[in-house]
Amino acid sequence: MTNLSLTTSAPTSIKAEALIVGVHSSDEGPFLLQAPTPLSPWDDVAAAAALAGLTGAVGEVATLPGGDWVAAERVVLVGLGEPEKLTGERVRKAAGVASRAVAGLGTVASTLSAIDLTAAAEGHLLGGYLFEAYKGATKAPVKAIRLIVPSAAKPAKEELRRAEITAEAVGLARDLINTAPNDLYPASFADRAAAAAQTAGLKVQVLDEKALVKGGYGGVMAVGQGSTRPPRLVRISYRPSRPKASVALVGKGITFDSGGLSIKPGAGMEHMTSDMSGAACVVATVIAAAALKLPLTVTATVPLAENMPSGGAYRPADVLTHYAPKGERPKTSHILNTDAEGRLILADAIVRACEDKPDYLLEAATLTGAQVVALGERTMGVMGTEALRDRVAELARQCGEGGWAMPLPEELRTQLDSYLADLQNVGTGRAGGMLIAGHYLSEFVADGVQWAHLDVAGPAFNTGKTYGYTPQGGTGVPVRTLLATLADIAAR
Ligand code: BES
Ligand code: MN
Ligand code: ZN
Repeated sequence: MTNLSLTTSAPTSIKAEALIVGVHSSDEGPFLLQAPTPLSPWDDVAAAAALAGLTGAVGEVATLPGGDWVAAERVVLVGLGEPEKLTGERVRKAAGVASRAVAGLGTVASTLSAIDLTAAAEGHLLGGYLFEAYKGATKAPVKAIRLIVPSAAKPAKEELRRAEITAEAVGLARDLINTAPNDLYPASFADRAAAAAQTAGLKVQVLDEKALVKGGYGGVMAVGQGSTRPPRLVRISYRPSRPKASVALVGKGITFDSGGLSIKPGAGMEHMTSDMSGAACVVATVIAAAALKLPLTVTATVPLAENMPSGGAYRPADVLTHYAPKGERPKTSHILNTDAEGRLILADAIVRACEDKPDYLLEAATLTGAQVVALGERTMGVMGTEALRDRVAELARQCGEGGWAMPLPEELRTQLDSYLADLQNVGTGRAGGMLIAGHYLSEFVADGVQWAHLDVAGPAFNTGKTYGYTPQGGTGVPVRTLLATLADIAAR
């Protein structure tokens, strides 16, 4: 990861390989709002930017040679859009674009931090992210960025530290998602999650297939039984000494989703390497919560399975028995489609998580194609108990991950009634698939727990081109929404 530091030096006096400066757009052409030293010829820079074809729109970037007016070797101009529409998210995007433009360089300086330190730091780190496990000879992320700020005192230092922890968490989630499913399967995911959590000083428990059978985790075992690589369930706990509340995190960990016997079409099946994004994000979140020393008990429960067709696979028509606390009657699910597998492993994990009696349950999953149809690829659907649902959706928008509150309309619930079992795992038609999945999960959430379900089927994985601070492949959504929600809970 790029090394970030704070400086209060004047932008034009900083010796660096590049100076990153934001450019605004206007009817009269591009212009620069930041004129940090009276001597610098910013009007000339704006004119040069216009000649270089810049309008100042978000996403634009151009590199100009330096001159005797600036100590940096070059000036990298990035678009910020209209000044009256400036948001933290635009700064974050511009910083991401700029980081990629300076890839391969050593030390550069950025003025974007003078506008919004958190957004600039996050954007620079997230935009510079590179996954190098499978690829040789790519331009390394820029080594160091000096963030220009009005004051480098303690509050700014703490702000920078929080941004670094956040970006590190997003990076961990992206790394797990980008690891190919031949390398990342339930056991290897569990090993990597356990290692990362132990390094952070957290308590880890891993249930292997024997422990899962013994414990009665019928959902996780059924979904994983078609694969030669058996399921796991990972639990990671962070317990500070004086917690203000307890939060359970649950994330869907399907390391590959072929659909099983209800097999998916070939086109796009490769995207199902990302079906463990929810799991990756909650693992990263609990580790970050500890690094941030949030005054909350946070426990991540992560069910892991590979959904494959085979002679041993679970079938449409099977009835499986979910996990239940000792002495309670377990719920049963009638399988009508083996491709609706996420909810089955989540059901076990949600019941297990609720056994600890948390105040809050935040659960993230690449659960339905219907989410993408309804909200597109960059806006998660948020369901759950009303107040928490609305808070999470609002926080998702604030941190730039995009979210919208979704209802669980009562009339859809009856579609999950089964003639044979407590529930069937799919509805009866094609309408409202995201909401029906939400209804299914709600059946397993204990009474009194404030619950939010984040369907990130679209936002978790970028199948298109790089944009802003979002690379191709794993995006790390919803790590920042989860962290913002934890911080919000801790602050109340
Ligand atoms: N993992 C998929 C959902 C998904 C689709 C994630 C597209 C990311 C992009 C999930 O397991 C699934 O297959 N859902 C089915 C449910 C259906 C059978 C009720 C779907 O959405 O088609
Ligand atoms: Mn599926
Ligand atoms: Zn799936």
